[in-house]
Amino acid sequence: MTSIFILFLLANLCNSAKILLTVMDQGRSHATSITPLMHRLQKDGHVTALEMVSYKKDMDFGMEERFINMTGHENHFISKDFFKIAFEDEFTFIHQAVPFIFGSISCYRVLRLQKERWSEIANEDWDLFLSDSLFSPCGYAMAEITGKPHVMMHSSDVESAHGSFKGFHRNYALMVPNFLPYSMSNFTTDKWWHRVVSTVDWFGSAFVTAGVAGLAQKWALRSVIPFPFFSFYDYNRQSTFTFTDMPDPLYPVGPRTNDYFSFGTYCNPPKTKLDKEWEHFVNDPKSKGTILVAFGTIIDWRFAPEEKFEIFLNVLNKFKDYRVIWSMKGDRPDGLLDHVKVSSWVPQQQILNHEKTVLFLSHGGLKSVKEAVCSATPSLFMPMFAEQMRNAWLAKSKGMARILNKFHLSEPYLENHIREVVEHKSYQINAEHLLSTFTDLPMAALDEAAFKFKRLFKYKGKMPVYFYPKSIDISYLTTLNLDILIILPVLLGIIVSK
Ligand SMILES: *[C@@H]1O[C@H](CO)[C@@H](O)[C@H](O)[C@H]1NC(C)=O
Ligand SMILES: *[C@@H]1O[C@H](CO)[C@@H](O)[C@H](O)[C@H]1NC(C)=O
Repeated sequence: MTSIFILFLLANLCNSAKILLTVMDQGRSHATSITPLMHRLQKDGHVTALEMVSYKKDMDFGMEERFINMTGHENHFISKDFFKIAFEDEFTFIHQAVPFIFGSISCYRVLRLQKERWSEIANEDWDLFLSDSLFSPCGYAMAEITGKPHVMMHSSDVESAHGSFKGFHRNYALMVPNFLPYSMSNFTTDKWWHRVVSTVDWFGSAFVTAGVAGLAQKWALRSVIPFPFFSFYDYNRQSTFTFTDMPDPLYPVGPRTNDYFSFGTYCNPPKTKLDKEWEHFVNDPKSKGTILVAFGTIIDWRFAPEEKFEIFLNVLNKFKDYRVIWSMKGDRPDGLLDHVKVSSWVPQQQILNHEKTVLFLSHGGLKSVKEAVCSATPSLFMPMFAEQMRNAWLAKSKGMARILNKFHLSEPYLENHIREVVEHKSYQINAEHLLSTFTDLPMAALDEAAFKFKRLFKYKGKMPVYFYPKSIDISYLTTLNLDILIILPVLLGIIVSK
């Protein structure tokens, strides 16, 4: 018996790998997109750890922690300027440079003040690094200096720049732009102009990521990666796999390579039931249904412009026949009526899965969109920053959501949109229809992802050369055949000019 156990243990040890996930500073949002996969890998006996620069205590991620403690320093990511962008500005591919620059400044400071800690983490005997695709240069450098293989992890869809670096052959004009303008909730690839917007977003993103973000990261890492400096382009190109949390059934179909997998198409039932206090509030017999207002972990209503806050408060007060739950930090605002419950922590998943819930009013972060899909909850999204407008558009195009334009926010506008969703059955029907096929896969997504990791480890973290597309080694212009297509006009030009 004991010997069988030891054999089993040995077999497991040989197959188990030590994996370090490196995410952006205080990167709870990105980390929690990836933790379900990490927990699945733990079940296969792999050792998983999380690295990030931390400015304050964070939640328990259920992984070993390798944090770099920078308590006492300023975390640029939570500056007031950011809330101004979120509530009042357009968000384009140009804005994408800002978090890359913040991440670079922070990493530069870490390498100046805590290089030993950084180096100690990097040099543990990791088999594989998993790199957050966005804003974590200090993590990229760990893989780079140790020469260990690394895999790119995308907490939303693969960004256009990263995808281009990796030789994806996506038709950028036919994809919904990552940074869809807030005025284009009716985006359609049938319109010429809309395809132009897609194209500009695609090339703009690639330029900002390779250029501006690339330079900032070279600067930040120059003390550990000297001339010819760190290249984000090469870092992506040389990654041995790409995993994304974007569920395939939500996203337009696009070409993909062998080394690409979406692990995001799963739904977990809530682990616990609603507790008494919440249950009592939502089950009020006088209530026509529950409306949940939750804008994710990043948006803080205390920093919202006063007039926008008032609009929400006054409109939510009007829905007296409903029970409204408003997730917000800080004290209960004055003037809210009793049918609105305010809390800094809300059991979001349990409430969305509760049968009386009729509307989810949110910002359109991918995790929120997925929770709406998995609980078949009709939604109203008011996108605030990053790719949220695009996520909201994906849900809208499935007929389960409407989109609010934050620039048009007024009391009648917000009220009409809420009534539109809660008073028409079609949103509920479409949501249920999407959910009915959502996880209909040959193999559960997280299991398949774990299987792909296992195979990757079998080849020591990098698949044989034949596995990767040729286009990784040639330029994008060559990949697009522009060098060939240019011959005809040039020949014609020569003939005509003779
Ligand atoms: C991080 O550093 C601060 C101040 O230097 C300290 O008070 C805190 O306990 C540290 N946190 C951890 C988890 O070590
Ligand atoms: C989108 O299309 C619908 C229906 O055609 C129309 O009512 C609505 O005003 C359009 N919205 C925008 C932002 O163009």
